[in-house]
Amino acid sequence: MIEKKLSPQNGLYLAEPLDTWLTAGNHDYAIPEAAGSSARVFLLKDESGSSAYKRDPAFKVMRHDKLSYAKPLFLEEYKILAGLNGIQGLTSMLQGGFLKPDPSSVWPSELAPLSKDAEQKASAVQVSGKLALFSPEETGDLLQEMDERLSDGWLPFLILERRWEDNLYMLCDAGYTRGNFAKNLTMKQVLDISIQICDILAQAHQRGATFLDHKLLHYYWNEYRQKVIMIDWNIGHWQPENMQPEVLQFDLVQFSSRAMHHIFTGRQAPGSVAVGPNRPEDIASAPRHFKASYSYDVQNRLNQEEMRFLEKALDGAFLSAAEMREHLQFLASKRL
Ligand SMILES: Nc1ncnc2c1ncn2[C@@H]1O[C@H](COP(=O)(O)OP(=O)(O)O)[C@@H](O)[C@H]1O
Ligand SMILES: [Mg+2]
Repeated sequence: MIEKKLSPQNGLYLAEPLDTWLTAGNHDYAIPEAAGSSARVFLLKDESGSSAYKRDPAFKVMRHDKLSYAKPLFLEEYKILAGLNGIQGLTSMLQGGFLKPDPSSVWPSELAPLSKDAEQKASAVQVSGKLALFSPEETGDLLQEMDERLSDGWLPFLILERRWEDNLYMLCDAGYTRGNFAKNLTMKQVLDISIQICDILAQAHQRGATFLDHKLLHYYWNEYRQKVIMIDWNIGHWQPENMQPEVLQFDLVQFSSRAMHHIFTGRQAPGSVAVGPNRPEDIASAPRHFKASYSYDVQNRLNQEEMRFLEKALDGAFLSAAEMREHLQFLASKRL
């Protein structure tokens, strides 16, 4: 563990929020996810030149007014990201730690930084304090110190690679793209994206993690490398000792009804957990079976085999990510 001072004078500070907006072309939208969640996310700037990071990372910090709600979520995310270290397609935790804000610190209100003025008002540059930084390998120590630090006014945080790619919601949502989603990705790409996610889930499941919060806002698309990258594991569970088959199956049904139905058809499956600040209990109490819904133009986009596959997935017929991947691979082989 090392200690540092967070303050603009020190060249190490929190800049604009990353959790309050999305841009598509010329249109900027405030996203519905940030408010009410367990964390706030800011860009972390290090002007000292001694930074260990390749580019400015994201700083995900526990909300000071949501400690008891947020604590189990942060615990899970630390364990999962430490446990899944090295798997491709995740947003790696670069460091974890605790921030003890100076008494003069004020957290900014949640404004989308859509103008220079709003960006300044929304930035957390006034937040200064002590940082205790832990490497991913030191996550065990961090977890041990959690209770004592929390009661002493420290706020847990994760420093994550900053995602700069296109959010999949922006590319795939029927409303957001005004119906143009089918032009953004071919079905071959849609199937390939699903395969990549299955690969990540298969590895996570094998090590003992589930994801569960499969809204498209949590997936990014690297157009250049044609790769999917995920964020936000805090609703997932870390249970390497006793992973139950039903839990894996449930993770796959959540993936199917939210992410996969959304990239196939432009919308989530009817009755699935809405895109928003989802709570663990919303997802835990979600149905175990869903039906597909196809708008007229989607009926031309998907072929019969793809529709049958999606319906099977929504019904919970796949018990492992590898089995789902195999079926997707078969469908992809038939698309040019
Ligand atoms: N590594 C990151 N890079 C860029 N933006 C991020 C990153 N992590 C989070 N965000 C932004 O902040 C939002 C909230 O972060 P998330 O990890 O989903 O937290 P929560 O647990 O509060 O939902 C994300 O939807 C995304 O817009
Ligand atoms: Mg989230």
